Formats: sequence, structure tokens, C-alpha cells
Amino acid sequence: MLNEKTISVIKSTVPVLQSHGKAITTRFYEMMFANHPELLNIFNHANQKQGRQQTALAGAVYAAAANIDNLEAIVPAVKLIAHKHRSLGIKPEHYPIVGQNLLAAIKDVLGDAATDEIIDAWAEAYQVLADVFISVEEQMYRDAEELPGGWRDFRNFVVVQKVQESDVITSFYLKPQDGRIPSPFLPGQYISVKLEIPGETYTHIRQYSLSDSPGKDCYRISVKREDAWDGKPAGVVSTYLHEHVREGDVLPISAPAGDFVLDMSVETPVVLLSGGVGLTPMVSMLNTLVEKQPERQVTFIHAAQNSNTHAMREHVEALAAKHDQVKSYVLYSEPTAEDRAACAFDKEGFIDLAFLQSVLADNQSEFYFCGPVPFMKAVYQALKEWGVPQSRIHYEFFGPLGSLEE
Ligand SMILES: Cc1cc2nc3c(=O)[nH]c(=O)nc-3n(C[C@H](O)[C@H](O)[C@H](O)COP(=O)(O)OP(=O)(O)OC[C@H]3O[C@@H](n4cnc5c(N)ncnc54)[C@H](O)[C@@H]3O)c2cc1C
Ligand code: HEM
Repeated sequence: MLNEKTISVIKSTVPVLQSHGKAITTRFYEMMFANHPELLNIFNHANQKQGRQQTALAGAVYAAAANIDNLEAIVPAVKLIAHKHRSLGIKPEHYPIVGQNLLAAIKDVLGDAATDEIIDAWAEAYQVLADVFISVEEQMYRDAEELPGGWRDFRNFVVVQKVQESDVITSFYLKPQDGRIPSPFLPGQYISVKLEIPGETYTHIRQYSLSDSPGKDCYRISVKREDAWDGKPAGVVSTYLHEHVREGDVLPISAPAGDFVLDMSVETPVVLLSGGVGLTPMVSMLNTLVEKQPERQVTFIHAAQNSNTHAMREHVEALAAKHDQVKSYVLYSEPTAEDRAACAFDKEGFIDLAFLQSVLADNQSEFYFCGPVPFMKAVYQALKEWGVPQSRIHYEFFGPLGSLEE
């Protein structure tokens, strides 16, 4: 463990590092990718360009360091990140690279203010954190490997079926190329797909939630095509999957990961809320609930632009028609003339507390949600305003971790 002196140096310098946060982390990534360009095979370049990952990784190092004398407090946060790391294939040998470059960046930005004493203390603290991550991740690799049909790193899956679900969302059914079963997973979990795209220097890894219930002989992911828009380039992986990946093609994927999962140990009513492609983990949960907890009340609320972008509508409607315990509601922000004529939605506009109160008898449910950040913020604020305790609020970001508080 760290001695008192080191702990006090760390604690007194966390605020200084945080105040130089962006400069240090920007420099850190510049240095790390210059020294180790092979890491560009793992990191998401779009998140880098938009500065999203910069904030997440170094921010987490400082936050964890602030609790260096109480590591128990950071275990839940470590697990969340470790799931992502395990899904990406992060290895123990990567940790010294991050550590060395983070320290070099601190030195570079702070100059003489970063004394040897400070740098040595941070080197020690980083090692303690890295050891925690490495051991949590090793356990996760082992757990994934030991499941029936499980595996450790990336494994080749064949695209056995490609199904268009809406104008923008397409599903891919994936079966292990080795003919063995795929491992079980918990509804809400995701896998990572690693793509080698012709003409691209580096591989690209992206996460996709499994969109059907577990227990089948293949996995299903459902991907939204991110078109070029408002000066932003088209999404690299999603457009490649939509436009170039065909039935019969092989995709390396990592084993299911993530702790945004449906709690099936209780029978409390459950509300599944999704915006756009955020419906993927929710449909996995819905299908599982219908199969495994047929007595449990489920309310499925989906927000989309209109019927053109609304995926899996018939599937959800059919479940709601067949199972009394399932209720489904739809919000369209820009309904088409046909949507209006067909009364194809329950509300025009965005989700808010008034809508939730109009379709739910009370706030006594478990709430799960996923979607674009503004949708998630609206749901979160509404649930807070309604007095739903934090312990019954569960959500997933389809990107780097963020905050829903403001
Ligand atoms: C846990 C998890 C689960 C997920 N599940 C799903 C799922 O089920 N279905 C699904 O469709 N997606 C899901 N995602 C999102 C998915 O992983 C990808 O992020 C998404 O497909 C976009 O990847 P891409 O390669 O197409 O886009 P990228 O190339 O990564 O680009 C992403 C965005 O950044 C913008 N961008 C790129 N470069 C710049 C720049 N220089 N300046 C400004 N903007 C830029 C692009 O225009 C695009 O809008 C999930 C993500 C996570 C973390
Ligand atoms: C103690 C050290 C580390 C901490 C505290 C840390 C923290 C984080 C955090 C907070 C995230 C964001 C999680 C999310 O948004 O879901 C993340 C993601 C990630 N981390 Fe780490 N990390 C550490 C070490 C490493 C190492 C050694 C590597 C490998 C070189 C690595 C590679 C990544 C990658 C590739 C991502 C996803 C980034 C993206 O694609 O946008 N991390 N990490």
C-alpha cells in the first residue's frame, strides 16, 4: 500500500491536475499515440477527435486517485470501466504504456511545478490503480471464457442473416464460425465488433448491444447507420456494416460484457424506455421478460422520429397484443402524414414527466433506459422529479460515459 506521505501528495495534487485536465490529457494522447501507434487499433478515433475519450480516461484516473486510501469506494466504477476494457481486449501490458505517457504528459504540461516527489507519488498511485484494474479484468476474462460456449478475446462469427428493420437500422444475426454455441449473456449486455476495413490503416472496434433474448444459437445486433450530417463525416463502422458486410461474411467479436442488465431476481413492474437505436438492449429485455417472467408487468415506451426510422415496431406490437402484462407506447417527434392518418403514435413530441404519468399508474417500477443523450437527460430528470429512487434507475450510454445530472 502507499505510505501516508505519498497519499498526501496525491490528494493535494489531484485538484491541480484536474484544473489542467484538458491540457494534460490532450498531451497524453498525443504522446501515447506517437510512441505506440498500434494503440490506434483499439481506441475509437471519432471519440478522440471530439475530445470525448480524453475527458473519460484521465478524469477517471484523477477521480480514482482522490480515493486512493479508500479503494473500496471505486470498485463499482472500476467494474463498469473494466467491462468496457475486457470487451475491447485491453491487456496487462497496456497499463505501463498508459502510465508512462500520463506521467510524461503531466511533467510536460506542469513543467517545474511537477517535482520529482510529485511524479514519484503519481507513479506509485497509478501502479496501485492499474493493479486493481488488471486483477478485476483478469477475473472477467476468466469468467467469460469459462461459460459454456465462452471465449476470452475475439472469436470469429459468421453473418448468417442481415435484416433491414427501418430506414436506418439493420440487424445482423451472428453465429460462431467454429460451429459451437455462443455463450449465454444477460439481457442488456453488448459485444464488441472488430473490423478491418479496406483502405483503413487501423482496425476499428465498436460496441453493439445484443438485441434479442439469450439462449438462441446466434446473437443478434441491430445497428443504426450514422450518415454524414451537418458537416460531420459518416460513421466508419456503422456505414461499413450497412453497406459492405453481407451474409456469409465473418466478423471477429468479443464475448458479451456490461453491467447494464435486467434484474430478474425481482418481480417488480418494469418500464423499458428507449430513444432511436437505444431500443436494442430494451428489446432484448422485453423478449426475455416475456419468455422468463410472464407474470411481470412490462411497459415498453419508445421514442423515434417517425415510422420510417422506427425499428421492430411490428414485433413489439405483436408481443403487446399477445401478452396482457405487456403495454407499449410510441412517441414520434416528426410524424409523417401517414403516421397521423394511421394514428400510429401515442404522443407527438418528446418524452416528459406528464407523459410518463399519463401512461403509468405510479412510480413504483424499475426503470431502464437508453437512447441519445438529450433523450436520456429528459427521462432521468422526469424520473428524479417524480421521486424515483436512484436504486431503481438504470441506464446505458451508447458512447463514452457521461453525466445526466445537468
Ligand atoms: C455499450 C454500447 C452499446 C451500443 N449499442 C449499439 C447498438 O445496439 N446499436 C447501434 O447502432 N449502436 C450502438 N452503440 C454505438 C456504436 O458502438 C457506435 O458508436 C456507432 O455505431 C457509431 O460508430 P461508427 O463507427 O459508425 O461512427 P464513428 O466513426 O465512431 O463516428 C461516430 C460519430 O462521430 C462523428 N464524428 C466522427 N469524426 C468526427 C469529427 N472529426 N468531428 C465531429 N464529429 C465526428 C460521426 O459523424 C458520427 O456521428 C453502442 C455503444 C456502446 C458504448
Ligand atoms: C488505471 C488506468 C485506466 C483508467 C482509470 C481507465 C479509464 C477509462 C474510462 C473511464 C473509460 C471510458 C469508459 C466508457 O466510456 O465506457 C475507458 C475506456 C477505454 N480505455 Fe481505459 N482506463 C485505464 C487504462 C487503460 C489502458 C491501459 C488502455 C489500453 C491502452 C485503455 C484503453 C481504453 C479504451 C480503448 C477505451 C474505450 C475508448 C473509446 O473507444 O472511446 N484504458 N478507460
